[in-house]
Amino acid sequence: MMCLRSIRTQIALLWVPFLLFCGSSCSNKQVVSEAERKALMDRGAEVVGSAQTELGSALQQQLKDSGVLHAIAYCNEHAAGITAGVSERSGHKVYRRSLKYRNPLNKPSDIEKNALKVFEYALEHEQPLHPLLQWNEADSSFLYFAPIVVQPMCLNCHGTRDNGLAQETFERIISLYPKDKAFNYEAGQLRGMWVVEL
Ligand code: HEC
Repeated sequence: MMCLRSIRTQIALLWVPFLLFCGSSCSNKQVVSEAERKALMDRGAEVVGSAQTELGSALQQQLKDSGVLHAIAYCNEHAAGITAGVSERSGHKVYRRSLKYRNPLNKPSDIEKNALKVFEYALEHEQPLHPLLQWNEADSSFLYFAPIVVQPMCLNCHGTRDNGLAQETFERIISLYPKDKAFNYEAGQLRGMWVVEL
Protein backbone atom coordinates (compact mmCIF):
# COMPACT_ATOMS: atom_id res chain seq x y z
CA MET A 1 0.00 0.00 0.00
CA MET A 2 2.76 2.41 1.05
CA CYS A 3 4.72 1.36 -1.98
CA LEU A 4 1.85 1.96 -4.37
CA ARG A 5 1.19 5.37 -2.84
CA SER A 6 4.81 6.38 -3.19
CA ILE A 7 4.90 5.25 -6.84
CA ARG A 8 1.75 7.28 -7.48
CA THR A 9 3.32 10.31 -5.79
CA GLN A 10 6.42 9.93 -7.92
CA ILE A 11 4.40 9.71 -11.11
CA ALA A 12 2.35 12.75 -10.06
CA LEU A 13 5.52 14.72 -9.29
CA LEU A 14 7.09 13.82 -12.63
CA TRP A 15 4.35 15.91 -14.22
CA VAL A 16 5.03 18.94 -12.08
CA PRO A 17 7.96 20.44 -14.04
CA PHE A 18 6.14 19.70 -17.30
CA LEU A 19 2.92 21.35 -16.11
CA LEU A 20 4.73 24.43 -14.92
CA PHE A 21 6.73 24.60 -18.11
CA CYS A 22 3.50 24.24 -20.08
CA GLY A 23 1.80 26.84 -17.92
CA SER A 24 4.46 29.32 -18.84
CA SER A 25 4.81 28.50 -22.51
CA CYS A 26 2.18 26.21 -24.20
CA SER A 27 -0.90 28.02 -22.94
CA ASN A 28 0.92 31.26 -22.34
CA LYS A 29 -0.43 34.05 -24.52
CA GLN A 30 2.30 36.37 -23.25
CA VAL A 31 5.22 35.67 -25.55
CA VAL A 32 8.47 37.38 -24.67
CA SER A 33 11.80 37.46 -26.45
CA GLU A 34 14.85 35.90 -24.86
CA ALA A 35 16.20 39.40 -24.09
CA GLU A 36 12.94 40.45 -22.39
CA ARG A 37 12.88 37.23 -20.43
CA LYS A 38 16.44 37.83 -19.26
CA ALA A 39 15.59 41.40 -18.23
CA LEU A 40 12.60 40.13 -16.20
CA MET A 41 14.70 37.42 -14.53
CA ASP A 42 17.42 39.98 -13.70
CA ARG A 43 14.88 42.39 -12.23
CA GLY A 44 13.34 39.58 -10.13
CA ALA A 45 16.77 38.55 -8.86
CA GLU A 46 17.59 42.16 -7.96
CA VAL A 47 14.38 42.62 -5.93
CA VAL A 48 14.86 39.28 -4.16
CA GLY A 49 18.48 40.24 -3.45
CA SER A 50 17.39 43.45 -1.68
CA ALA A 51 14.62 41.73 0.29
CA GLN A 52 16.89 38.87 1.32
CA THR A 53 19.70 41.20 2.36
CA GLU A 54 17.43 43.46 4.41
CA LEU A 55 15.59 40.64 6.15
CA GLY A 56 18.74 38.53 6.61
CA SER A 57 20.82 41.31 8.10
CA ALA A 58 18.02 42.40 10.46
CA LEU A 59 17.68 38.80 11.66
CA GLN A 60 21.44 38.33 12.11
CA GLN A 61 21.63 41.60 14.07
CA GLN A 62 18.77 40.60 16.37
CA LEU A 63 20.27 37.16 16.98
CA LYS A 64 23.65 38.68 17.78
CA ASP A 65 22.41 41.54 19.99
CA SER A 66 19.42 40.06 21.79
CA GLY A 67 19.24 36.29 21.21
CA VAL A 68 16.73 33.90 19.68
CA LEU A 69 13.64 34.85 21.73
CA HIS A 70 13.94 38.54 20.87
CA ALA A 71 14.63 37.68 17.25
CA ILE A 72 11.33 35.75 17.14
CA ALA A 73 9.40 38.77 18.41
CA TYR A 74 11.27 40.91 15.88
CA CYS A 75 10.40 38.61 12.94
CA ASN A 76 6.81 38.42 14.16
CA GLU A 77 6.46 42.21 14.22
CA HIS A 78 8.74 43.33 11.39
CA ALA A 79 9.21 40.63 8.69
CA ALA A 80 6.13 41.72 6.72
CA GLY A 81 7.04 45.41 7.16
CA ILE A 82 10.58 44.87 5.86
CA THR A 83 9.39 43.12 2.69
CA ALA A 84 6.63 45.74 2.25
CA GLY A 85 9.37 48.42 2.39
CA VAL A 86 11.31 46.67 -0.38
CA SER A 87 8.08 46.37 -2.43
CA GLU A 88 7.46 50.08 -2.08
CA ARG A 89 10.99 51.14 -2.98
CA SER A 90 11.41 48.73 -5.90
CA GLY A 91 7.90 49.20 -7.27
CA HIS A 92 7.40 45.40 -7.33
CA LYS A 93 5.43 43.47 -4.73
CA VAL A 94 7.71 40.93 -3.04
CA TYR A 95 6.74 38.32 -0.46
CA ARG A 96 7.51 34.82 0.82
CA ARG A 97 5.46 31.66 0.43
CA SER A 98 5.87 28.14 1.86
CA LEU A 99 4.10 24.79 1.65
CA LYS A 100 4.71 24.51 5.41
CA TYR A 101 4.12 28.07 6.50
CA ARG A 102 4.46 29.66 9.92
CA ASN A 103 2.40 32.76 9.24
CA PRO A 104 -0.91 31.87 7.53
CA LEU A 105 -0.49 35.03 5.42
CA ASN A 106 2.34 33.15 3.65
CA LYS A 107 0.06 30.31 2.50
CA PRO A 108 0.63 29.71 -1.25
CA SER A 109 -1.99 30.01 -4.00
CA ASP A 110 -2.36 27.14 -6.49
CA ILE A 111 0.06 28.70 -8.96
CA GLU A 112 2.58 29.29 -6.14
CA LYS A 113 2.12 25.73 -4.85
CA ASN A 114 3.10 24.39 -8.29
CA ALA A 115 6.32 26.39 -8.28
CA LEU A 116 7.16 25.23 -4.73
CA LYS A 117 6.63 21.62 -5.82
CA VAL A 118 8.98 22.10 -8.77
CA PHE A 119 11.70 23.36 -6.39
CA GLU A 120 11.04 20.55 -3.93
CA TYR A 121 11.23 17.97 -6.72
CA ALA A 122 14.53 19.41 -7.98
CA LEU A 123 16.07 19.40 -4.49
CA GLU A 124 14.90 15.88 -3.69
CA HIS A 125 16.30 14.60 -7.00
CA GLU A 126 19.54 16.55 -6.66
CA GLN A 127 18.85 18.60 -9.75
CA PRO A 128 20.05 22.22 -10.02
CA LEU A 129 17.70 24.83 -8.54
CA HIS A 130 16.89 27.74 -10.83
CA PRO A 131 14.43 30.60 -10.32
CA LEU A 132 11.26 30.38 -12.43
CA LEU A 133 9.26 32.91 -14.41
CA GLN A 134 5.53 32.39 -14.87
CA TRP A 135 2.87 34.44 -16.63
CA ASN A 136 -0.07 35.05 -14.32
CA GLU A 137 -3.16 35.48 -16.51
CA ALA A 138 -5.33 36.61 -13.58
CA ASP A 139 -3.20 39.69 -12.88
CA SER A 140 -1.64 40.11 -16.33
CA SER A 141 1.76 40.09 -14.73
CA PHE A 142 4.85 37.93 -14.59
CA LEU A 143 5.68 36.15 -11.37
CA TYR A 144 9.29 35.49 -10.49
CA PHE A 145 9.88 32.63 -8.05
CA ALA A 146 13.21 32.08 -6.24
CA PRO A 147 13.76 29.10 -3.91
CA ILE A 148 14.70 29.53 -0.22
CA VAL A 149 16.80 26.67 1.17
CA VAL A 150 17.24 25.92 4.90
CA GLN A 151 20.67 26.95 6.25
CA PRO A 152 22.06 25.57 9.55
CA MET A 153 21.26 28.82 11.43
CA CYS A 154 17.57 28.62 10.42
CA LEU A 155 17.28 25.46 12.53
CA ASN A 156 17.22 27.63 15.69
CA CYS A 157 13.62 28.43 14.80
CA HIS A 158 12.65 25.96 12.05
CA GLY A 159 14.44 22.76 13.14
CA THR A 160 13.80 19.83 15.46
CA ARG A 161 14.63 19.28 19.14
CA ASP A 162 17.70 17.32 17.94
CA ASN A 163 19.15 19.79 15.45
CA GLY A 164 18.90 23.22 17.10
CA LEU A 165 15.37 24.07 18.22
CA ALA A 166 15.34 24.76 22.00
CA GLN A 167 12.23 23.97 24.05
CA GLU A 168 11.71 27.64 25.04
CA THR A 169 12.02 28.71 21.41
CA PHE A 170 9.43 26.14 20.40
CA GLU A 171 7.05 27.36 23.13
CA ARG A 172 7.48 31.04 22.20
CA ILE A 173 6.86 30.37 18.52
CA ILE A 174 3.82 28.17 19.10
CA SER A 175 2.32 30.85 21.37
CA LEU A 176 2.58 33.37 18.51
CA TYR A 177 1.66 30.93 15.72
CA PRO A 178 -0.64 28.24 17.19
CA LYS A 179 -1.02 26.49 13.80
CA ASP A 180 2.67 26.63 12.87
CA LYS A 181 3.76 24.14 10.18
CA ALA A 182 7.34 25.45 9.90
CA PHE A 183 9.23 23.19 12.33
CA ASN A 184 11.07 19.90 11.74
CA TYR A 185 13.26 21.10 8.89
CA GLU A 186 16.80 19.96 8.18
CA ALA A 187 19.56 21.97 6.49
CA GLY A 188 19.39 21.70 2.70
CA GLN A 189 15.61 21.26 2.50
CA LEU A 190 13.29 23.70 0.72
CA ARG A 191 11.93 26.23 3.25
CA GLY A 192 9.88 28.22 0.75
CA MET A 193 10.34 30.79 -1.97
CA TRP A 194 10.37 34.47 -2.75
CA VAL A 195 7.73 35.76 -5.14
CA VAL A 196 8.13 38.99 -7.09
CA GLU A 197 5.29 40.47 -9.15
CA LEU A 198 6.91 41.96 -12.24
C1 HEC B 1 14.73 33.77 15.40
C2 HEC B 1 13.88 32.78 14.78
C3 HEC B 1 14.01 32.55 13.29
C4 HEC B 1 15.12 32.22 12.57
C5 HEC B 1 16.54 32.03 13.07
C6 HEC B 1 14.67 32.04 11.21
N1 HEC B 1 13.32 32.26 11.10
FE1 HEC B 1 12.16 32.07 9.45
N2 HEC B 1 10.57 32.74 10.45
C7 HEC B 1 10.55 33.07 11.80
C8 HEC B 1 9.27 33.67 12.12
C9 HEC B 1 8.83 34.17 13.50
C10 HEC B 1 8.53 33.72 10.92
C11 HEC B 1 7.14 34.28 10.70
C12 HEC B 1 7.28 35.76 10.27
C13 HEC B 1 5.95 36.43 10.01
O1 HEC B 1 5.05 36.38 10.85
O2 HEC B 1 5.83 37.03 8.91
C14 HEC B 1 9.38 33.12 9.90
C15 HEC B 1 8.99 32.98 8.58
C16 HEC B 1 9.80 32.48 7.59
C17 HEC B 1 9.40 32.36 6.19
C18 HEC B 1 8.07 32.77 5.57
C19 HEC B 1 7.14 31.61 5.37
C20 HEC B 1 6.43 31.18 6.63
O3 HEC B 1 6.73 30.06 7.06
O4 HEC B 1 5.61 31.95 7.16
C21 HEC B 1 10.47 31.83 5.52
C22 HEC B 1 10.53 31.49 4.05
C23 HEC B 1 11.53 31.67 6.50
N3 HEC B 1 11.09 32.07 7.74
C24 HEC B 1 12.78 31.21 6.17
C25 HEC B 1 13.85 31.22 7.07
C26 HEC B 1 15.21 30.90 6.68
C27 HEC B 1 15.66 30.47 5.29
C28 HEC B 1 15.99 31.07 7.80
C29 HEC B 1 17.48 30.93 7.91
C30 HEC B 1 18.28 31.68 6.97
C31 HEC B 1 15.09 31.47 8.87
N4 HEC B 1 13.80 31.57 8.39
C32 HEC B 1 15.51 31.73 10.17
C33 HEC B 1 11.56 32.88 12.69
C34 HEC B 1 12.87 32.58 12.35
